[in-house]
Amino acid sequence: MQAALATLQTAALDAIDSAADEAALREIEVDYLGRKGQLTEILRGLKDLSPEEKGKIGKLANEIKTELSEKIEAKARLLVSARFERLAETEWIDPTAPGQYAARGTLHPITQLTREAERIMTSLGFTMATGPEVEDDWHCFTALNIPADHPARDAQDTLFLTGMDDRVLRTQTSAVQIRWMERYSPPFRIAVAGRVFRKDDFDASHSPMFHQLEGLVVDKNISLAHMKAVMEEVVRKLVDPKAKFRFRTSYFPFVEPGLEVDMSCTVCEGRGCPVCKRTGWVEIVGCGLVHPQVLRNVKLDPDEWSGFAFGFGIDRMVMLRHRMTDMRQLFENDLRFLKQF
Ligand code: DAH
Repeated sequence: MQAALATLQTAALDAIDSAADEAALREIEVDYLGRKGQLTEILRGLKDLSPEEKGKIGKLANEIKTELSEKIEAKARLLVSARFERLAETEWIDPTAPGQYAARGTLHPITQLTREAERIMTSLGFTMATGPEVEDDWHCFTALNIPADHPARDAQDTLFLTGMDDRVLRTQTSAVQIRWMERYSPPFRIAVAGRVFRKDDFDASHSPMFHQLEGLVVDKNISLAHMKAVMEEVVRKLVDPKAKFRFRTSYFPFVEPGLEVDMSCTVCEGRGCPVCKRTGWVEIVGCGLVHPQVLRNVKLDPDEWSGFAFGFGIDRMVMLRHRMTDMRQLFENDLRFLKQF
């Protein structure tokens, strides 16, 4: 039995020594010291020995068991540190190395122009304002001097929200004018950039969802000259530094006088093309001096206060800035198109 133990000891030490990795080592441990392991088997045979032999062999077997356990733990420590060394070798990083360039997306051209508009408007002393896209009748129409029976409502192609009394998807950012004037006292200059909705077709120059850039100034003795200066600055900065302008009288219930402004077509440079319907001019904004009734509707005295307002079509501006011929490109999310900006 002593001989068997000696053989086992040598074989086990050899095996431990040559274990290639931690898993192999655990197998060896089970093989010798586990519940059904070789050494355990031998120890089980002790009960058949004489008491004298039992003491001697038992002691020897226990010594071997302790030795093997210690060797296994020592070997395990070696294998673990070897593994970490290999990891350090294969997965080291150099924190001083220059970073790798990660491909980035770009902002949508509408977002780009909107952000620039915000910068320009604030640099001109305007405060950016926002309002809800689900608007009520008062702010979207009535307070803007478009009462319920007014034919101008027809032109708004309104999307009504069924089941929500009186609520519409706002057709114009002009609604925010009312919200601001109800809340704050003049003088003020505000600008609004946001989404508006109309029951429109989706074609080369229409979309049921589009964007407007609204401006409102209320102060003392405001004239069309103030308005003209601000609007021309905005267009030259945002769309075309060489833009020429044509101011035409027009009608919007919330301004008097009301105007529409055309800018020279950038696509054909005035020669005439489908974008400008062969006229060389494209309408980009409605504007005018704030109607006295609108001021009264928000409890301001029109003899004391005056103002101007305008509402640009942002999507139009984007098209003219990049000389695009089809508005749908802005909403189709084709990366080949969007990545150009
Ligand atoms: N809200 C008008 C529209 O959507 C545009 C507009 C016209 C805005 C005149 C104004 C304005 O502020 O004064 O057609």
